[in-house]
Amino acid sequence: MSEHSVRPRLASNDNGGAPNADGPQYVCVSSDVKLGTGVRFSKFVNLYGCEVGDNVKIGAFVEIQKNAKIGNNCKISSHSFICEGVTIEDGVFIGHGVTFINDIYPRATDGGGRLQTESDWSVAPTLVKRGASIGSGATILANVVIGEEAIVGAGSVVTRDVAARSIVAGNPARLLRYITSEVEVSG
Ligand SMILES: CC(C)(COP(=O)(O)OP(=O)(O)OC[C@H]1O[C@@H](n2cnc3c(N)ncnc32)[C@H](O)[C@@H]1OP(=O)(O)O)[C@@H](O)C(=O)NCCC(=O)NCCS
Repeated sequence: MSEHSVRPRLASNDNGGAPNADGPQYVCVSSDVKLGTGVRFSKFVNLYGCEVGDNVKIGAFVEIQKNAKIGNNCKISSHSFICEGVTIEDGVFIGHGVTFINDIYPRATDGGGRLQTESDWSVAPTLVKRGASIGSGATILANVVIGEEAIVGAGSVVTRDVAARSIVAGNPARLLRYITSEVEVSG
């Protein structure tokens, strides 16, 4: 949940400019976004007030909200939503349609029936550590830490911290196994 109003700019895309020969690329990047070098966008992307490191690849229909941070060399697949309060370290893979959450008990209105503003709720943080991977369709509840090189299975709902180099899956996500040098994952 967030409100934001900074004039968007069209940013460069895979073809090095926007719009290009195929027409407008609809990559909306607000002027307050801190963008690293070599960031690649697909079409229909919406970024505002966030920080994105070097060589990050961002798929179509991704939204990244203000005060979210993405490290270097991350892949953010299409249709994922990265909200305020989310920190993603270097080398993280985010699958398609991954949803982060920053308000555990959301409400549309305050006690007086008026639409809530930012002063009516507080952002709950989430940390995804270096080299972790989050499978497609996963939902990551707030106040969790996903450990280094952990893997979250497709469609999981993560409600608790995920240990480093572990694989979790399901709703709620539970430990399947640890990634050891004997039992690695391919690819
Ligand atoms: C979780 C995952 C990494 C596999 O891990 P694994 O340790 O090799 O797990 P296995 O395939 O050996 O399965 C172990 C058990 O977990 C279950 N399982 C596997 N993936 C699951 C998932 N996403 N959700 C729920 N259960 C899952 C299996 O059915 C199996 O259950 P069983 O023991 O009752 O038969 C993989 O299934 C997955 O979800 N990867 C994410 C892929 C993805 O989203 N990629 C995005 C880009 S396309």
